Amino acid sequence: MIDKICQFSFPTQISFGPGAARMLPEHLAALGMNKPLIVTDPGLKKTGVCTAVETVLKRSGVPCAVFCEVEANPCEKDVENALGAYLANGCDGVIGLGGGSPLDVAKVVSVLAVNQGPLIRFDVLSGGNKQIQGPLPPVIAIPTTSGTGSEVGRCSVITSESEGRKFLVCNPLMMPGRAILDPELALGLPPALTAYTGLDALTHNIEALTVEDFHPMCDAIAEKGIEFVASYLERAVKNPGDLEARGYMMMAAMMGAVAFQKDLGAAHSLAHALSSVCGMQHGLANALCLVPVMRFNMEASARKYAVVARGFGINTFGMTDLEAASQAIAAVEDLIRRVGIPATLADAGVEEDLLPLLGRKAFEDGCHQTNPRPCTQEDLLQLFRQAYTKG
Ligand SMILES: [Fe+2]
Repeated sequence: MIDKICQFSFPTQISFGPGAARMLPEHLAALGMNKPLIVTDPGLKKTGVCTAVETVLKRSGVPCAVFCEVEANPCEKDVENALGAYLANGCDGVIGLGGGSPLDVAKVVSVLAVNQGPLIRFDVLSGGNKQIQGPLPPVIAIPTTSGTGSEVGRCSVITSESEGRKFLVCNPLMMPGRAILDPELALGLPPALTAYTGLDALTHNIEALTVEDFHPMCDAIAEKGIEFVASYLERAVKNPGDLEARGYMMMAAMMGAVAFQKDLGAAHSLAHALSSVCGMQHGLANALCLVPVMRFNMEASARKYAVVARGFGINTFGMTDLEAASQAIAAVEDLIRRVGIPATLADAGVEEDLLPLLGRKAFEDGCHQTNPRPCTQEDLLQLFRQAYTKG
């Protein structure tokens, strides 16, 4: 039933394909960026990916500054330090280069360049995101992983060390002006990180599809994203040099992030708690929680999970939605096993006595509020228990 006015927006210009990173100078010119700050992490500085991007700029005569100290699960201090580099170098735009962490930091540096901090003032949970004023300095996002899809997202996830939780800063103004998706940049991603980030992309597509909101465009994108992960993730994990698999995974991640403008679900609340409390990599955390959450949602989302089953190549002809949903969950569980993800939270090194704290933290997180089946704090704790023992 269509009974309300909806907003649909897909404004980021995307350049996709092997070698697309070499188009960076023309994107800079189009956005009027004369001195960008490259925001990246220490790993990419070492591997030479950052140097390659700097070289592209140098050959075009574009001066730049580099901030390469973004940590995984970035905190407010990372943002402050990157902002300091932006201001000290007189930059006029930001290039986010790397996984979700550098991209998220790049986006909020742009926010703080023209909006007075501290960043937590703009926390979505307190409605602070509505205080963000534009125009913001332009951002170009260049992902090197295939997970968060932050390159087309309007949000950044930052950890507040003082409050011991992750918070979201979201505003349509934060969508990068350009995204450059070059699968050649993902070729060096190690198998474990390929698996973790790929499961993050799968979780985005599945959770976005199951959010009960009228958005047929996002639903169609999520369906295709699921199909790409089902077809290409294992290939990318087992053969890191498979450019075609890298390309489809990069596309699947980007599509997941477009789709989750609908919102996410309980798996992300559990994953955010695991990252805040245990420092767990975000995609791994999703991978460990996705199947228990799908089982929890099975009746509420049976029709959508039947779509997931078809994305995994299962012929659902003659099945009820519940039968197809059950097959979808089995297929997701099998993929998670095949790409080498630990079976349980216990196997991943989580201490059992942390589960009550994790349940409380997950309940404080906003993502479960759009889960297709409402969650109490006790429900979230039970989901952690199931993920702990694979019960
Ligand atoms: Fe995610």
